[in-house]
Amino acid sequence: MIAAKTLKLNGKDVPIGDERNLLELARKAGIDIPTFCYHSELSIYGACRLCLVEIEGRGIVASCSVLPEPGMVVRTHTEEIREMRKEAAAKGVATVIWSYPRGEAISKDGETAIDIAAYAAQIAALLGAHVIKIKLSTDHLELPAAKSVYEEQQIDIATQAARVKHCMDSAFAGRRIMVFSGGAKKGADGVFDDARAIRDGGGNGSIIGRNSFQRSREDALAMLAKLVEIYKGKA
Ligand code: FES
Repeated sequence: MIAAKTLKLNGKDVPIGDERNLLELARKAGIDIPTFCYHSELSIYGACRLCLVEIEGRGIVASCSVLPEPGMVVRTHTEEIREMRKEAAAKGVATVIWSYPRGEAISKDGETAIDIAAYAAQIAALLGAHVIKIKLSTDHLELPAAKSVYEEQQIDIATQAARVKHCMDSAFAGRRIMVFSGGAKKGADGVFDDARAIRDGGGNGSIIGRNSFQRSREDALAMLAKLVEIYKGKA
């Protein structure tokens, strides 16, 4: 008897049939991977990167564009997140997703590009996050296909407040709580400007880490007090 060709998907051996890509194989195995640009009857476009999975030794790839090969070890983090979400819901705990795009599929600038940040927000919402945490973005557009849509639709991404609003719109039209982190340690004025942009764009708050604990206690408390005033619209 000839042994069936298999690959490992989220730790389970899954037989490979006539599937044209990892996405089809995962769906046959009952794992739902979100997609945007994929249609089974059309040629593969592979542009949206919504269907990312991890292949051991190869990194993060678009599952709709990769042929299943025997011996592959594939992990879909979406499934992992769903399981964790189920567990959290069973205990009455809210799900917070830190949606930080990383990996070889995007450039360094792409990690904070507005098209990628907006996708990150949308994916987190689709995965069931109650609270989404993303990074503040730049006006860089990573994907050529996205660039033409942003230009055609004249989506305003010129200011940080406009980009915050766009990210909020991308997560069920602002119906999810979204907080933003600013990244590198910066001067207090930079932190305050970020907070005003988040407030004006309709965001729900700043995540402050190193910008408080890398300051003296007095400075950190004064900074946090001013941030509260900014979110109250008083500063
Ligand atoms: S669904 Fe768009 S890249 Fe796979």
